[in-house]
Amino acid sequence: MRVSLMTTTVRPAVRWSVEHALPRQVLRMSEKRGDIQARLVAESRHVATPDLAGLFDEIRGRGRLVRTDLAYLTATHEVCREVLSSPDVKAGFPAPDNPAIARILDWTKTETLHPVQPPSLLAVDGPDHTRYRKLVTKVFTVKAVEALRGRVEEIAAGLLDEIAASGADQVELVEAYCSRLPVAMITEILGVPPQDQDLVRGFGSAAAPSLDMGLSWKMFRSVDNGLTEFDTWLDQHLENLRRNPGDNLMSKLAATRDEEGGLNLVELKATAGLVLAAGFETTVNLLSNAIALLHDHPEQRELLKAEPERWSNAVDEVLRFDPPVLLTGRKVDKATTIAGVDLRPGVVVTTVLAGANRDPEVFTDPNTFDVTRENAKDHMAFSAGRHYCLGASLARLEGEVALRALYERFPDLQVLPGAQRRKTRVLRGFQVLPATV
Ligand code: HEM
Repeated sequence: MRVSLMTTTVRPAVRWSVEHALPRQVLRMSEKRGDIQARLVAESRHVATPDLAGLFDEIRGRGRLVRTDLAYLTATHEVCREVLSSPDVKAGFPAPDNPAIARILDWTKTETLHPVQPPSLLAVDGPDHTRYRKLVTKVFTVKAVEALRGRVEEIAAGLLDEIAASGADQVELVEAYCSRLPVAMITEILGVPPQDQDLVRGFGSAAAPSLDMGLSWKMFRSVDNGLTEFDTWLDQHLENLRRNPGDNLMSKLAATRDEEGGLNLVELKATAGLVLAAGFETTVNLLSNAIALLHDHPEQRELLKAEPERWSNAVDEVLRFDPPVLLTGRKVDKATTIAGVDLRPGVVVTTVLAGANRDPEVFTDPNTFDVTRENAKDHMAFSAGRHYCLGASLARLEGEVALRALYERFPDLQVLPGAQRRKTRVLRGFQVLPATV
């Protein structure tokens, strides 16, 4: 009983105190002092990404790489790219300088997978990163993904048939469409049975705030439970595939456990779990952000109706203007100089991807949403360097097919009042998007 109370309550409470409650206090104090990074964290909680443009300009106005109370911060396109591609800067968060805090965190560590903790692809570099990435990359190349176009079209058509057949006056598009299509695709690629799709969608929603800093105790517990349930489900699912493999990516990954140099169980779960979760949590946001933007810019929607071959570029413009991932962080591994600033090992650099997307050095009239923009593809919504999004081609294909099919089927689609953005800060999209079709 004592042991279980320790595991279920005391350790999580200590972990939450160090990882969230303490940073939350620091953030509050820094915000009061006007620290720009603390303001970004605070404002991103309740403001739509397009409305953060003023803050992005302010960050750039202060410099190309700005020192804040918490880290270094950049919203400059060129500097974001340099940080994310530098061999001296690594993924993941640094261990605390204070040895006592480091010991406490070590004591609270759990076996449960976490998207930004090793051995997640997102949190490792060097030979391990290359080894994990090599195993999954083939399935997501431009050529391999293009072969899936017909299947994405079928899934989109099936979902739109269901919406039409429901005969309802109103439809909630996140539930009925935006979240279903990417989950259906990634589960099919990975070999997750259709009956588990809703379960997987639920794990994704529960785990999405795990990328945010300063979570409340209630949210932290909900994320922790979501991650634990996902972990347990993955264990069982991978074991099933090992015994009864199919022609899919997860079966192939599971088989490498028995091969020389293959993945061990923890690496396997981390890699398969990340590809699965990253494979839909962000694309859901791409679709909902696009629908909301096209509602606010009817002239752009008309243009796409007249010239549907522009859909592919329109998806990139949505990714530039309202990207599903606000920012990402790195830690300096070896002393280096970036944008004229000397950085010592251990410091954190935050690259504001959504801010880089509004950099006037790269994008003319950056705060104008323009689906005909010639260099829309130069956005940083998929990051850069070694951790550049593995699923970028799949996300672009899903966006193009899903949006075009939606507006072709329902040309009179109108978003209704009552849309709600998600409460997550790093992941940006809609929770609820009611519409008439
Ligand atoms: C619009 C949709 C998407 C967006 C905006 C997006 C965004 C991102 C970003 C910003 C990163 C890098 C984070 C960093 O540098 O710290 C990333 C990495 C990743 N993404 Fe995506 N993503 C999307 C869709 C997908 C899809 C469909 C998949 C499915 C395979 C996927 C799988 C991954 C994986 C596995 C990584 C880790 C790569 C690595 O660390 O080497 N993503 N994504």
